[in-house]
Amino acid sequence: MSVEPPSSQADRQLTYSDYLRIPELLRLQSPLSRPMAHDELLFIIIHQTYELWFKLLLHELDAVVANLRAATRRPDSRDEVYEAARLLRRCTEIARLLVEQFTVLETMLPTHFLAFRDRLRPASGFQSEQFRELEFLCGLKDERMLDLHEPAPELFAALQRRLKEPSLRDVFFDALAAMETAPPMSPDAAENERFRMRAQLIVAVYRKEGGHRDWIDVCERLTEFDELLVAWRLRHIQMVERTIGMTRGTGGSAGASYLRATLDKKFFPELWEARSLMCEDPHGS
Ligand code: HEM
Repeated sequence: MSVEPPSSQADRQLTYSDYLRIPELLRLQSPLSRPMAHDELLFIIIHQTYELWFKLLLHELDAVVANLRAATRRPDSRDEVYEAARLLRRCTEIARLLVEQFTVLETMLPTHFLAFRDRLRPASGFQSEQFRELEFLCGLKDERMLDLHEPAPELFAALQRRLKEPSLRDVFFDALAAMETAPPMSPDAAENERFRMRAQLIVAVYRKEGGHRDWIDVCERLTEFDELLVAWRLRHIQMVERTIGMTRGTGGSAGASYLRATLDKKFFPELWEARSLMCEDPHGS
């Protein structure tokens, strides 16, 4: 008589829930209000969703950096440049979604937020390590921001690493200079001199459009990503003002007026400066 082997986890066919770890995922929302304020679940899920998209953005931008590094080593090959542009397109589509997503949160009335807001203090989006990682990775490195982040050790370590690593901005310009065989920029060059040379490099690439379409595609995607991040900051401010007016944030900042001061932040300022240079000298005299 044959005996059936005991069914083990290994014999079971993979299911949707197993693969995506849905039970664990659905246990990760823990509202703090008692009795639970209806909109706290929305508030938690929106933030978690943003953090998941931030995670994917970091993953994709790391791959863009790797491709641009490879392009620096092989300036004659265009495969990596094409791949960088393709992945950047994914990043801009994600960023577009992140701008849109605030409309869902704006269905929450200010009074409904106040029903649980006090339970959040002193936590704040200020402390989003992944948002700060994105800024550092793209080239906006402000060491003072580390002071906000110490509580989550493994995320803090990632932030410190990002601060030391070359940014996407630096890697992009290294790759572009290698392709254009521009004279190497001395690491000691003054910041404003480096900025000017980089902007001129962009202008040169746009003026030789025929042989540089793939690079121009990368430039345009980076510009669009920059544009969308500013759009994200603006939509966040509008949503903040709509919800808490001009009052202070749970993280202790002045609130919307602090956030307004971040609107000038750009990841790739040379790409914007290049546009002024092109207009000032339209025929490249
Ligand atoms: C009712 C909803 C929200 C309100 C009232 C709000 C309010 C604020 C305020 C006042 C600040 C400034 C820091 C502070 O003092 O706390 C801030 C920063 C921030 N918030 Fe929000 N926020 C909301 C939703 C979100 C969402 C959904 C995200 C998505 C991740 C987010 C991400 C951030 C980030 C990343 C910062 C830092 C920005 C920077 O320093 O440039 N916030 N938020």
